[in-house]
Amino acid sequence: MKKIAIYPGSFDPVTNGHLDIIERGLNIFDRIIVTIMRNPSKKTLFTVEERMEMLGNSLAEIPNVEVDVFHGLLVDYAAKRKADAILRGMRAVSDFEYEFQMALMNRKLNRDIQTVFLMTGLRWIFTSSSIIKQAAEFGGDIEDMVSPMVCRKLKEKFGFADPSA
Ligand code: PNS
Repeated sequence: MKKIAIYPGSFDPVTNGHLDIIERGLNIFDRIIVTIMRNPSKKTLFTVEERMEMLGNSLAEIPNVEVDVFHGLLVDYAAKRKADAILRGMRAVSDFEYEFQMALMNRKLNRDIQTVFLMTGLRWIFTSSSIIKQAAEFGGDIEDMVSPMVCRKLKEKFGFADPSA
């Protein structure tokens, strides 16, 4: 039986830290469904379509990965897709409380779906979509934290695009 994981998130935008988790996840799962979901406590910079496009572009070379969007409860989506697990990345202790709370709520909502946490590579321990957006907003160099396409999109959003590119 093929093992399937859902990797849910806001992906606003996808970062190299997310890609690192997906690659690590593929050592455990046969297939990973990367799903853009709504986090009611976050206002996004990019539209769902833009986030889909950036994920699709960043994951184009990685086999056994699918990109999807779902509006609703994560556990309902995981059951609908017959997933074996929800995959989440863990960086520092600061992630723990939020992730723990979410995993336990998801377990309360559906006891059959497990959450699996993977540690990001040390290289990405300090990165997040939010901190990258903040650096990009003020013209900071974020080139080695996101894919070239995401870097271009961030520069466009914040008016730092190179008109000759
Ligand atoms: O990348 P994020 O913003 O940390 O991802 C959080 C996300 C989107 C996975 C979470 O907010 C989520 O699962 N949203 C869907 C609604 C839901 O099922 N919430 C969990 C139970 S309270």
